[in-house]
Amino acid sequence: MDSKRTVSIIGTGSYVPEKVLTNKDLESVVETSDEWIYSRTGMRERHIAAEDQAASDLGSEAAIKALVDARIGAEEIDLIIVATLSPDMFFPSTACFVQEKIGAKNAFCYDLGAACSGFLYAMDVAKSQIACGAVETALVIGSEKMSTFIDWEDRGTCILFGDGAGAAVLQAGGEGRGIMESSMGSDGSLAHLLATPGGGSRNPISHEMIDQKQHFLKMEGRDVFKHAVVRMSEAVLDVMEKNGISADDVSCFIPHQANIRIIDAISKRLGVADRMFSNVDKYANTSSAALAIALDEAARGGTIKKGDLVVLTVFGGGFTWGANVIEWGK
Ligand code: UT7
Repeated sequence: MDSKRTVSIIGTGSYVPEKVLTNKDLESVVETSDEWIYSRTGMRERHIAAEDQAASDLGSEAAIKALVDARIGAEEIDLIIVATLSPDMFFPSTACFVQEKIGAKNAFCYDLGAACSGFLYAMDVAKSQIACGAVETALVIGSEKMSTFIDWEDRGTCILFGDGAGAAVLQAGGEGRGIMESSMGSDGSLAHLLATPGGGSRNPISHEMIDQKQHFLKMEGRDVFKHAVVRMSEAVLDVMEKNGISADDVSCFIPHQANIRIIDAISKRLGVADRMFSNVDKYANTSSAALAIALDEAARGGTIKKGDLVVLTVFGGGFTWGANVIEWGK
């Protein structure tokens, strides 16, 4: 086994459910307006999963597209990691449900919890597993049915999120440098600013907990906003330094899709507005799926091409954040 091998992304895929919920539609759900939502977030609409669709269903759709793109069969996958904060169940893992649905019978599977940062974290773990020679091919998925965990009476949060999934197939080898060094960080002292406090072992399911709506996502929006801008900007600068590249070398920056104002603030700090990718207008914030969907759209739409250097960056509950650099090899 090589001690460190090149790891490439050989296929990507994404899926959003059919139902579209526009800002206008939300006007009849809570006291809000299309104008407020668009001017504060850049969002125009989001997709909402059907009642019978769980995170593994969305993730499997994205995974199948990624496998087609990679031109490999499901049985060639050695490892499946699903990043999600809206799993089908507490256990078993959503990754095991995906395995069954797509027929990846040779894979070992688990979920990874890093909130909205999950897809990049999962990519980092899978990359390490491949680089050290433990596995050859990994399927990494970010999949969320956020609509289940949102308080549809809280206008401060319900307008922000959407459902969807994205996937990438990682494999040893390939041309160029593939997935390069990453820069990751977390700060558990700020966990309370973005969390779903009820339903776990700290505050178990009870009538009282549900009456208090503790099973829904809670967020201090302004604080999250500030930290997101600072942490993602710093992570991008750090990861470029680590990899010995400058912003001028990068063809495309793909950040977590939480709010266009966060993305614009990062662009401004880094001076890279002309190369910043965003699709938050179409999908809103799909948490761990957001980066995965954006990467797939950027690849399929020709925004990123073979040989390009791409910088990905994320931020989420925990707090968690990170960035990595990929030399696109497809
Ligand atoms: O994935 C990572 C997690 N999430 C994020 O990164 C989100 C980070 N935060 C944000 O994107 C922004 O903070 C929000 C979009 C959530 C809010 O924007 P803001 O500019 O920070 O607004 P605010 O929370 O300071 O609220 C301003 C006003 C308030 O009214 P008052 O107190 O000034 O009278 C809110 O009650 O807007 C009101 N408001 C709304 N009005 C209409 C809050 N939500 C709504 C709404 N429609 N949906």
